[in-house]
Amino acid sequence: MSDERLLTRRQVLRLSGVAAAGLALSSLPRWGRGAVSSAPSLPIPTLIEARNDEPVNLAMQYTRHRFGAGAAVAAGGISSSYLGPVVRVRSGDTIPFRVENHLAEETTLHWHGMLVPSQVDGGPHNTIEPGAVWTPELAVKQAPATNWYHSHPHGRTARQVYLGLAGMMIVADGADRDRGLPVTYGVDDLPIVLQDKRFGRNGELIYQPNMMDVMHGFQGNTLLVNGAIGPVANVPAGFVRLRLLNAANARNFDLRFSDQRPFFVVAGDSGFLAEPVEVRSLVIAPAERYEILVNFSDGQPVELLTMLQTHGIGPGMMMQRGGPFGFASGAQAFMRFKPDSNLKATITRLPQARAQVAPPDIKSAVAQRTFVLESMMGMHMAGMGGMGGPRGMMMGRGFGRSGGPGQMMGINGRAFAMDRVDVTVNQKTAEIWEIVSPMMPHPFHVHGASFRILSNGGRMPSAEQSGWKDVVLVEQRAAILVRFDHAAPPKMPFMFHCHILEHEDHGLMGQFAVV
Ligand code: C2O
Ligand code: CU
Repeated sequence: MSDERLLTRRQVLRLSGVAAAGLALSSLPRWGRGAVSSAPSLPIPTLIEARNDEPVNLAMQYTRHRFGAGAAVAAGGISSSYLGPVVRVRSGDTIPFRVENHLAEETTLHWHGMLVPSQVDGGPHNTIEPGAVWTPELAVKQAPATNWYHSHPHGRTARQVYLGLAGMMIVADGADRDRGLPVTYGVDDLPIVLQDKRFGRNGELIYQPNMMDVMHGFQGNTLLVNGAIGPVANVPAGFVRLRLLNAANARNFDLRFSDQRPFFVVAGDSGFLAEPVEVRSLVIAPAERYEILVNFSDGQPVELLTMLQTHGIGPGMMMQRGGPFGFASGAQAFMRFKPDSNLKATITRLPQARAQVAPPDIKSAVAQRTFVLESMMGMHMAGMGGMGGPRGMMMGRGFGRSGGPGQMMGINGRAFAMDRVDVTVNQKTAEIWEIVSPMMPHPFHVHGASFRILSNGGRMPSAEQSGWKDVVLVEQRAAILVRFDHAAPPKMPFMFHCHILEHEDHGLMGQFAVV
């Protein structure tokens, strides 16, 4: 297809609106277009059903993976050619993991959302040398939730996660059937890992962040679901549970269905909401999770879309509309759902089960702290030296050494440093943390703890943001009530950071001890 015809097609799509079928076509890169006539089916990662005391092996490796119709290209995966298995653990069990590092570089594996002590958290201090094996035991003591795991080495998280070193982790308690929720993995309970990538001419994954990419976070022009471009999922014509995970390095997705159908949010990052929340659109920031129920009983195929939006990063520094990737305005399709009457629809009505989610106990807070997220700190600290020309804008790891004076980003005026504990809190207490983010919305994440949003952008949190969470997309200023139940000695602190991975790697991270 020539570019002229593509342009025409874009114009047609724009005229016919968001609901146009075949939107995925316009979002496919040239090399991937052969896949259109036979859209791939949604890959369903292997499910590892972890059992008490039985070891689970995970191998972190660089691989070759076929993303589209082209050849296999360099990627990364965990016991897989891209991403990793879905690991399902049970509340009350203790799971011994064996994490093998087959990369030729140091790594770590962080259990994002797992409420475990820092010794086994997998943050930057839990390094696994090349060829080594890390054997943390995870005692699962938390409510059901959709979590994930991803690599988290100091200063190199963005690249490793981008290449594919991540996977989904589910905490279950065996009571979902009683709750009336879909429970058949791969049929009406689907992992949906959302990402965006840039691909080169020959389908190779591109990760070469320039200065603007670091400022905005590295964003792609091609959407992936579970590692596939524009896949199709055959689903039963009833309620289907989608476990949405934004595993993109930087991009917020503004999700909706092509026919604007309503759907129901039943869980946020750290567990169930008090009751299903009906919405027609849902913003999911990097590292956030939502479980939604979608009713496919009308038998109509429908596409899951994200609206295109640009990240402004402050006055005078807005990204050009259309961006560097030639985005059209409007929407881009992640995937398509096709109801299939051969599949048994087990759940045909919206579950009425409620979860216990008490209102945030603000009086329990023993301290209040403020964290100012600064994404352009280095502009003052390092000046513009070395960043002016196009050469200076290209960088591998950063403007300066991690933690050094050239670090451009930081919290409360300080760039991340491995050997500095920024905050010490007491175990089994709660604190109010105020996160200030003047330049742009940053997705702020806390390890080893979960929190409730008290306010964000001057408003009460929306219903779908009112449960327990571990990521908050800070709009100017957010207040959260954080509960610290797990220990982190000063030698092995927990992290708090922006989950735009380029920001994290460039210093927008701090450490706290729980004693
Ligand atoms: Cu998703 Cu510091 O982690
Ligand atoms: Cu950020």
